[in-house]
This record gives sequence, structure tokens and C-alpha cells, in this order.
Amino acid sequence: MKLFIINGPNLNMLGIRQPEIYGKSTLKDLEKYVADHCDKLGFETEFYQSNCEGDIVTAIQNCYKRVDGIIINAGAYTHTSIAILDALKSVDIPAVEVHLSDVNAREDFRKISYLRLACFKTISGKHFDSYTEAVDALKEYLTK
Ligand code: DQA
Repeated sequence: MKLFIINGPNLNMLGIRQPEIYGKSTLKDLEKYVADHCDKLGFETEFYQSNCEGDIVTAIQNCYKRVDGIIINAGAYTHTSIAILDALKSVDIPAVEVHLSDVNAREDFRKISYLRLACFKTISGKHFDSYTEAVDALKEYLTK
């Protein structure tokens, strides 16, 4: 089984970007951490990062009939993008929304999530473990 793990805008800046919120580790560190966990559970992984909304929409469309589960941290697009919501609904692949920080404990605008409407679970505030918990949730969802 294959998981597609999407990181949206500014997540390529992990390690540099607001380390007091997002930590000092890089996107590469994050991808390795998640890939190691997926290996243990027998998932294949494909990672994708883009700063562009349309490219994320296309990447989700390309998952159709190709991947079993999606993990998405759409960064700020979480709070604005109906296009990414529609893409997730179009492919109808089980998806989990993740965030490194606790979006509910930050500015009010971060409490709004369009993507949540297309995801069976949202995990936030657990840093890299938001992603590994999403992997566990997909394992349970796909094998039940
Ligand atoms: C984020 C939270 C978003 O509000 C923010 O725009 C991000 C990162 C997180 O992982 O905590 O870019 O998705």
C-alpha cells in the first residue's frame, strides 16, 4: 500500500522558518522520520512539496487510482483553499490533515480549515508525530 505525503507552502523552509514554532529540523529530516515509520508498517511512500496551490491540486489529481492514502499539511492553504478541498473530494482517497503546530492555540484564522471537510481525521500540535500518528490512523482505516 502506498501513501502520498504532501507538504504545502513554506514547509520547505523548515529549520529556518520560525524555529520557536516549527523547530530546527528540516523538511528532509521530517521526510526521513515519516519514511522510517512507514517502512516499519509496510507502507510505500511518496513525498511532495510545493508552494503553489494549483500544483498541489494537480498532485492530488495524479493520486487517483495510484495511491491508497494521503497525508496533507497544506500550510496556509489549509485555511483558504476550496480548490484543494475539491481536489481531495474528487479523488476520494482516505486523507488525514496534519499540522506541526497546534493551530487551535494560535491566531483565530488558523482555526478555520477547509481541508478538514475532506479528511477523516485532523492531527495538529505534535510536530513530526502529527505525521506518524496520521500514518497509524491510515493503517487502521485501510485495514479495518
Ligand atoms: C501549519 C500551520 C499553518 O497555519 C501554517 O500556515 C503553516 C504550517 C503547521 O504545520 O503547523 O504553514 O500547517
